[in-house]
Amino acid sequence: MLVRTNVNGDWREAEVWPGSSLLYLLREHLGLPGSKNACEQGECGSCSVLLDGDLVCSCLVLAAQADGHAVRTVEGLADGDRLHPVQEAFADTGAVQCGFCTPGFVVAAADLLSRVPDPSDDEIREALSGNLCRCTGYSKILDAVHQAAGR
Ligand code: FES
Ligand code: FES
Repeated sequence: MLVRTNVNGDWREAEVWPGSSLLYLLREHLGLPGSKNACEQGECGSCSVLLDGDLVCSCLVLAAQADGHAVRTVEGLADGDRLHPVQEAFADTGAVQCGFCTPGFVVAAADLLSRVPDPSDDEIREALSGNLCRCTGYSKILDAVHQAAGR
């Protein structure tokens, strides 16, 4: 089936199997590998994107459900060569180790800060509770979100 989706501001089309996920569409058809495929079961958040402004696990959304809708991926957060404040803060605070979880955390944190500009620790933990990291122990990620809020 043909899927036509607005991805990071550009309308993109791809011919996909009807059971394909949005994550598969992004990574394998549209050349956007920033969203990671770690569990493909909605458990880890590494595939997080915004669908019409709502944070979703793209592994749990059919590509067909994104037909005619707007998707923003981690690749669409930067402003040209200028990183999004959350991306800068993750790099500056050492919140990135292996980096596999990072795109999902960055998208989820950017979503949080767009709604809650100065979140508390509890609000950050709640907002990022769907994202798993095996490396950092989460404290640097918390620091990164606070630093991004300050920016
Ligand atoms: S790959 Fe989608 S939640 Fe883990
Ligand atoms: S930095 Fe490795 S899983 Fe989070």
